[in-house]
Amino acid sequence: MIRVIISILLIGTAVLVGAFCTLGLQGKMMRKPPMELFPDMDRQAKLRPMEPNRFFANGVSSQLAPEGTIARSQPIETADGAVYHFEDSPVNTGRVTGTTNFVQNNPLAINLPLLERGRDRFDIYCSACHGRLGDGNGITKKIGAMPTVANLHDSRIIKMADGEIFNTITYGKSTMGAAGPLVGTEDRWAIIAYLRALQLSHLGSVDDLTPEQAAALKK
Ligand code: HEC
Repeated sequence: MIRVIISILLIGTAVLVGAFCTLGLQGKMMRKPPMELFPDMDRQAKLRPMEPNRFFANGVSSQLAPEGTIARSQPIETADGAVYHFEDSPVNTGRVTGTTNFVQNNPLAINLPLLERGRDRFDIYCSACHGRLGDGNGITKKIGAMPTVANLHDSRIIKMADGEIFNTITYGKSTMGAAGPLVGTEDRWAIIAYLRALQLSHLGSVDDLTPEQAAALKK
């Protein structure tokens, strides 16, 4: 055993010494040009700011942002008309400003266009696993790719704060991947609004019907 260890140490030292002799130590004078191990790291295909560059018409590497560019800190107009900044806004975080608590309610104004947008996005981004009804029977379950998918009509998820669902969509949860990079902020809230409508549609009873509707049902 001791021989093996000594041989490994000797071979290791030989390799290191060999490497230093061929490549040269920092500060060492050499006649030959130094060997470059990662030339693409030494000379990267990038522009340094404020350097002359012939590619652009004005001859400078730094350019103004294209027209229509939206700043990362662009505030979003909410139901109560308030405008928040990115890092601090419940719209962007799903949390009450200044705390780690999830917001209880969707901060966007709930209206028909939002619900329709939510249905559209839900069918695209969620139904493959959760099913178009949200019952967890999507195609991934049928083909056996994802055996256990949450049923979004579970009372636990019905009771969950909107902000927590926003967090789940944004960052994912165990085997569910993050949809944050795919689905825009407002679309995530639209999905939540639609999900609530979907849940409500399963919670209805005959008592919710108008007398005429109830009569029609009895026929
Ligand atoms: C690739 C499949 C997949 C997709 C797509 C998917 N989910 Fe899920 N989702 C899951 C699985 C699996 C779970 C159960 C995770 C676990 O084990 O806790 C889950 C759990 C959840 C939960 C419950 C989280 C909790 O705290 O228990 C919610 C809410 C949810 N998903 C919403 C959504 C919404 C909304 C979308 C669309 C934006 C979506 N999911 C897209 C697979 C998916």
